Amino acid sequence: MLVVDWRDIEGETPDQDIELLIELVETLPDGAIVVELGTNRGRSGLAMASVCKGTVYLVDNFTPDHPGWVAPSREVLEQNIAAIGLQERCVVVEGDSAETGRDWQGGKVGLLFIDAAHDEGSVRADIEAWLPHVEGYVCLHDFNNPHVPGVQAAARALLGEPWKVHWLTGVYCV
Ligand SMILES: C[S@@+](CC[C@H](N)C(=O)[O-])C[C@H]1O[C@@H](n2cnc3c(N)ncnc32)[C@H](O)[C@@H]1O
Repeated sequence: MLVVDWRDIEGETPDQDIELLIELVETLPDGAIVVELGTNRGRSGLAMASVCKGTVYLVDNFTPDHPGWVAPSREVLEQNIAAIGLQERCVVVEGDSAETGRDWQGGKVGLLFIDAAHDEGSVRADIEAWLPHVEGYVCLHDFNNPHVPGVQAAARALLGEPWKVHWLTGVYCV
């Protein structure tokens, strides 16, 4: 399929959640750093990159082990980045989401979007690894999805009450 913008990319994040992410990323200053955990083929990540005035780090382990998701592919992600012309603003990071956070030396993150593994333990590990690096928004996809209660359980245990819930996404200001 011809990809001209994020709407053409197969993926898991509904338009309503992406519209919220776009709104938040637009408020960030020049040079801002955005990190997405769980990029898959780039639907939500490239939507954020389209409006980001800094750099978007796209983290995925590209392991096709989840039957419910579109198969992740670094090759397709990189084709999509090039097709939309976002090479200057995107950095693909292949690796485990929490490990990447523990090793992070890339500076303060203005918006962190958590959408990797959705079990409570993994979401807790992502929050714990990345929280020290965030000054801005922590957004969790599927916070408001009863099929994956671990996302909200992890977020509430570590971060408390969200600032905002929109569609499936919960947002914290930290
Ligand atoms: C729900 S999909 C992400 C959807 C994407 N945000 C979109 O808009 O299409 C979850 C992604 O997280 C990745 N993933 C799962 N566990 C991970 C982990 N521990 N570290 C890094 N990536 C992981 C999967 O490979 C998959 O591509």
